[in-house]
Amino acid sequence: MRLLALLALAPLPMAAALPEGDAACAACHATETTHHRATPMAQALEKVETSAILKNHPTLTYQEGAYRSSIARRQDSSILTVTDGKDTLTVPLRWAFGRGQAGQTYVFEYQGALYESRLSFYNALGTLDLTMGAQNTRPQTIVQAAGRRIYALEERECFGCHSNGAVRGGQLHMESLIPGVGCSSCHGAVEQHVEAVRAGDVKAAQLPHLGALSAEDVSELCGRCHRTWSQIALGGPRNVNNVRFQPYRLTNSKCYDAADARIRCTACHDPHGTLDTTLADYDAKCAACHSAALHTKVCSVGKSNCAGCHMPKVDLPGAHAQFTDHQIRVARAGDPYPN
Ligand code: HEC
Ligand code: HEC
Ligand code: HEC
Ligand code: HEC
Ligand code: HEC
Ligand code: HEC
Ligand code: HEC
Repeated sequence: MRLLALLALAPLPMAAALPEGDAACAACHATETTHHRATPMAQALEKVETSAILKNHPTLTYQEGAYRSSIARRQDSSILTVTDGKDTLTVPLRWAFGRGQAGQTYVFEYQGALYESRLSFYNALGTLDLTMGAQNTRPQTIVQAAGRRIYALEERECFGCHSNGAVRGGQLHMESLIPGVGCSSCHGAVEQHVEAVRAGDVKAAQLPHLGALSAEDVSELCGRCHRTWSQIALGGPRNVNNVRFQPYRLTNSKCYDAADARIRCTACHDPHGTLDTTLADYDAKCAACHSAALHTKVCSVGKSNCAGCHMPKVDLPGAHAQFTDHQIRVARAGDPYPN
């Protein structure tokens, strides 16, 4: 299984999306489409023009050593200014990445190259702080104080995970980019599907039936963006920073069985829905395997809110947010983070 997983190191999603986006699906799949639109996944990327965070925070500032940064709203744009007292760099932000619980990072263009902003907005702080990863570096120039250059491969990866329709044949096509995770990110060649359904070609209309995937295959599917077990096992990180990579954590749990649908990501999460934050709702998922009736191990301590004790929330350093440890286990206070 492991070897297979290594060989199958999933490529980034490369399926074409329809120019009209998910509007083309709504007519026939209204439920999936309306539910999906409301998720942070569907909003994982937006143009700075429409960023609610930047609209609601028209002036943001941050001081790092000699560098003073500000992001100021001017009509529909947001301008990043960095100054060290002598020189000043001014550049408009272009893309806002992230709409979830942690925060938002910006991408801007400078001298023909793309940069990731050194500062991100964090919901928990209500203001700017260093972007994750930036804590380990110190800017030597005003450009470095503004952001980190992203090169072609990483560009494709960032937009590949946070948008759809833009990566084709290994190339980035910004002109066809649809912001956010879309139907094609998970379902693949939806373009042909729509054409075939419209033409009444039942056979050509068939898409892979994702509801029939094994736990391992669903982990690989979600892992294209949430990272696969093998990516983390091979490349790390092998410390608390991997708590955000659920496929890796879940696979390392004793509950995990590659062939058992009861432990698929989609056993606990609606792929089209928002994250359910009522812990008791997950009890039935545990009970599908842990019950007296099945003669399997049951708990001598708790009868409900199982995930609250066995899937502890963990602080992700620098993210100003907590993630849920998907390595289901008996978690005792003071135990080191298992890896
Ligand atoms: C004109 C109606 C129509 C449109 C538009 C349409 N579909 Fe479908 N879709 C169908 C029908 C009918 C089926 C069942 C066909 C089959 O698989 O036998 C289907 C099946 C599917 C399935 C497979 C379900 C499964 O697990 O077997 C997926 C996924 C899907 N559609 C996604 C999409 C997406 C994404 C779009 C938009 C890009 C879309 N569809 C647009 C009619 C439509
Ligand atoms: C194409 C990339 C991609 C794929 C494939 C993908 N995700 Fe995501 N997912 C994201 C991104 C990006 C975010 C962060 C969205 C944000 O917060 O801006 C996210 C966020 C989430 C969240 C958190 C939502 C919240 O409320 O904070 C859940 C849950 C989730 N994904 C589940 C899944 C599951 C389950 C699968 C597989 C069926 C999956 N994802 C596949 C990219 C992807
Ligand atoms: C391999 C896929 C992948 C790549 C590449 C990627 N992301 Fe993400 N990103 C995700 C997923 C999945 C999440 C949600 C889970 C998490 O927060 O780790 C996420 C979350 C985020 C968040 C936090 C959103 C929240 O939940 O508040 C930000 C900000 C972000 N990404 C920015 C970026 C930027 C900027 C780049 C490129 C420089 C990038 N990401 C590259 C998959 C990816
Ligand atoms: C994050 C990945 C992901 C995204 C994005 C996504 N889907 Fe799905 N979809 C799935 C998975 C996984 C299943 C199988 C669900 C299951 O196990 O029951 C599925 C099932 C379906 C089905 C079949 C439902 C059934 O009852 O069998 C349809 C139709 C569908 N999706 C349409 C869409 C449409 C339309 C969009 C875009 C608006 C979309 N999906 C976006 C992952 C995704
Ligand atoms: C046995 C149930 C279960 C399974 C299986 C499961 N999750 Fe979760 N997941 C949860 C719970 C519980 C939460 C926390 C909900 C809350 O309190 O906000 C969560 C939260 C998340 C989040 C939000 C960020 C975080 O860490 O809190 C993401 C993203 C996510 N899961 C992705 C996945 C992916 C991808 C898979 C498959 C590899 C998966 N989950 C499998 C139960 C599960
Ligand atoms: C697919 C079936 C399945 C699901 C779903 C499942 N488990 Fe398990 N779980 C197992 C198996 C199998 C073991 C190993 C039992 C053994 O060691 O005999 C296990 C072990 C455990 C252990 C002991 C782990 C250890 O390190 O000793 C705990 C605690 C646990 N599960 C809690 C949960 C909770 C809480 C949930 C729901 C969030 C859950 N499980 C969901 C099958 C499952
Ligand atoms: C208040 C925290 C708490 C809650 C809630 C809780 N557990 Fe536990 N669970 C524990 C602790 C602590 C242990 C270890 C007990 C011991 O070693 O004697 C444990 C042990 C287990 C084991 C391992 C039993 C064994 O014999 O090895 C399983 C399986 C388990 N719990 C499942 C669940 C399920 C399913 C639920 C929800 C119905 C649940 N737990 C709710 C704290 C909790």
